[in-house]
Amino acid sequence: MTEKLPLGIENPLQDIIKPKPFYFTEFGASYLGDSLELMKKLPDESINLIMTSPPYALVFKKEYGNVDAHEYVDWFKKFAKEFKRILTEDGSLVIDIGGSWNKGKPTRSVYQFELLIELVKEFHLAQEFYWYNPAKLPSPAEWVTVRRIRVKDSVETVWWLSKAPFPKADNRKVLQPYSKDMQRLIEKGYKAKKRPSGHNITNKFGKENGGSIPPNLIQVGNTDSSSNYLKMCKKKGMKPHPARYPKELPSFFIKFLTEPGDLVLDPFCGSNVTGYVSQENKRRWIGFELKDEYLLGSEYRFPAVYK
Ligand SMILES: C[S@@+](CC[C@H](N)C(=O)[O-])C[C@H]1O[C@@H](n2cnc3c(N)ncnc32)[C@H](O)[C@@H]1O
Repeated sequence: MTEKLPLGIENPLQDIIKPKPFYFTEFGASYLGDSLELMKKLPDESINLIMTSPPYALVFKKEYGNVDAHEYVDWFKKFAKEFKRILTEDGSLVIDIGGSWNKGKPTRSVYQFELLIELVKEFHLAQEFYWYNPAKLPSPAEWVTVRRIRVKDSVETVWWLSKAPFPKADNRKVLQPYSKDMQRLIEKGYKAKKRPSGHNITNKFGKENGGSIPPNLIQVGNTDSSSNYLKMCKKKGMKPHPARYPKELPSFFIKFLTEPGDLVLDPFCGSNVTGYVSQENKRRWIGFELKDEYLLGSEYRFPAVYK
C-alpha cells in the first residue's frame, strides 16, 4: 500500500521536525515514539491546534482500587508543558476525555475534572464541550442493567483550552442546518418582542445567516462500520484500534479553530483519525503514536502514503 516516492513529493513537515517519519502524505506526517520526546523536537509556537484523545484513566487503573486521579494529572502535566510551548499564541488545545467509574462502587471518578482544574493554571478554558454518543452501550452492567441504580453513561467531556483568551475561532465555519421551526420563522419574518425570560429579541433574530450556531453538545454515534480503514484492517487480519473517536468530533474543531494550511497535532494519534480529517480539510498535520501496529493500520485511511 505504501507508494513509491514519486518525483517531487517530499515530506511536508521536514523543515519543522527532523526525525524520520513512519509515513507521510501530501499534507502531513506520522512519527512512532513517545510524544513527550517527539514534541521536544518541535519549534516553539509551531502548532495551531492540538486535537487529541489521550489514554484515559482506565489505562492507569490499579488492579484493585480506584483510578488515581493525582497520578493521571501528574502524568499529563509533563505533556501540558510542551503543549503550551509549541502552540501558537492564538492556538487551541482540545482534549476529548472519557469518564470513569470507581472500582466496585456505583460512583464516578472525577479525574477529568481534576485535570481541567490543573490545566487552567496554564491555559484558559475557552469552553467546555460534551460529546453525546447515543450508540454507547449500557455499562457498567452491574449498576445499569442488573441492579438498575444508574443510567447509561453516554457523554464524554471535551475541554477546549487556549493559550490566550481570544484564540482563533469562527463559528460561521461550523453552522448547522436550521430546524424546521426556524426555517418557517425566517420565511415569515420575526416580530421583535420581549421573551418571558426578559430577553429582548430583535427582528434580526429571523435573519437568514446560512445556518444555526451549534451548541456545545456534539451528538454523534461512534458507529463506523464501513470505512476503508475497517475494511482494510479486516482484510489484512489487523486488529482495529480499540478506542477510536468518530471523525465528526475532530472535524468540528478543525473547521472551527483552524484555517486551510494551518498545522494540527495529535500527540496520541492512535489510528490517526485526526490526521485524516485534517487532510480532508486541507490542513497540515502531525501524528505521534507509541505503537507501530496502530500507525500501520492508519495508513489505510489515506489515498497514498510515502516512506
Ligand atoms: C485514546 S487513544 C487515541 C485514539 C485516536 N483518537 C483514534 O481515533 O484512533 C490514545 C493513544 O495514545 C497512545 N499513547 C499513549 N501514550 C503515548 C505517548 N506517550 N506517546 C504517544 N502515544 C501514546 C496509545 O497507544 C493510544 O493509541
